[in-house]
Amino acid sequence: MTETRMTSQAELRKYLRTFRLNAAPTSQASDESRAVVDHIDIAGRRIPRFTNEFWTAKQRQASSLHEVAYRACFKGQLPRFFIRLLSGAGDVIYDPFSGRGTTAIEAALLGRNVIANDINPLSRMLAKPRLRIPRPDDLAERLAQIPVEPSARADIDLAMFYYPKTEAEIVSLKNYLQTRRNDGNEDTLDAWIRMIATNRLTGHSPGFFSVYTLPPNQAVSPESQRKINQKRAQSPDYRDVKQLILRKSKSLLRGISPQQARQLAAIAENARFFTDDARKTRGIPTLPCS
Ligand SMILES: C[S@@+](CC[C@H](N)C(=O)[O-])C[C@H]1O[C@@H](n2cnc3c(N)ncnc32)[C@H](O)[C@@H]1O
Repeated sequence: MTETRMTSQAELRKYLRTFRLNAAPTSQASDESRAVVDHIDIAGRRIPRFTNEFWTAKQRQASSLHEVAYRACFKGQLPRFFIRLLSGAGDVIYDPFSGRGTTAIEAALLGRNVIANDINPLSRMLAKPRLRIPRPDDLAERLAQIPVEPSARADIDLAMFYYPKTEAEIVSLKNYLQTRRNDGNEDTLDAWIRMIATNRLTGHSPGFFSVYTLPPNQAVSPESQRKINQKRAQSPDYRDVKQLILRKSKSLLRGISPQQARQLAAIAENARFFTDDARKTRGIPTLPCS
């Protein structure tokens, strides 16, 4: 919701009464122009109803930048519809339950300012770095500089998930990122790498670091994973951590133009990401209701 255009429920109702879908012949508007408009009666009032589908299997129609796995995320077209309907360039869009940041990213792509909040700290880790788009060459150079200690292992046994060399690469990367953060040296490239690596830890396909297991951000116990391995007659094979990070990065960035990257960077200057309970977001000032 915006600060400058929608200051009261009355204004919002008035706006919705007079709203007509934008049928401009752009690719983004084409879905919206197919909306069906009819009316329903609520408490004796004739209310316009806009019916359309913004949550289809055609995920790739949204920006590639959204394609970070997260449970129960929606596709970019859904917030896009409401952001375009209810706000203008430079307004502030706030999502109190931001998840992977679909609303925040979409708002930034539309030139809106962004405030995002989610009680899960993973949300900020996944969303914030995508406003600072790295150059693939810089990313490759940074990854090449990160040292790998071949004997590095996690504190607990993860052999049922990872091939030993892969585990060494993951743990070395974790140690590097932790040191950079502790020393106050974490930069946008590090944050990007942390975001991609965290999202590649476990999954279904060879695009993830682990053997076949539950999708990203959903954990099974070592015992359950042993059973999965037994049932599927599988064991972890080598996954090249740095190559997979680069590959996923290129995939996320494939649809982003230099102009969009500049716009995202400009929005990033003032964007704010909180990890509070949405009922107590102390960092966000309460606006007077009119
Ligand atoms: C369905 S997900 C949102 C997904 C998001 N729309 C997207 O597309 O990425 C719901 C989110 O609400 C967050 N959440 C649940 N209760 C919360 C609370 N009390 N305060 C803040 N966030 C909360 C969860 O951590 C979760 O990330």
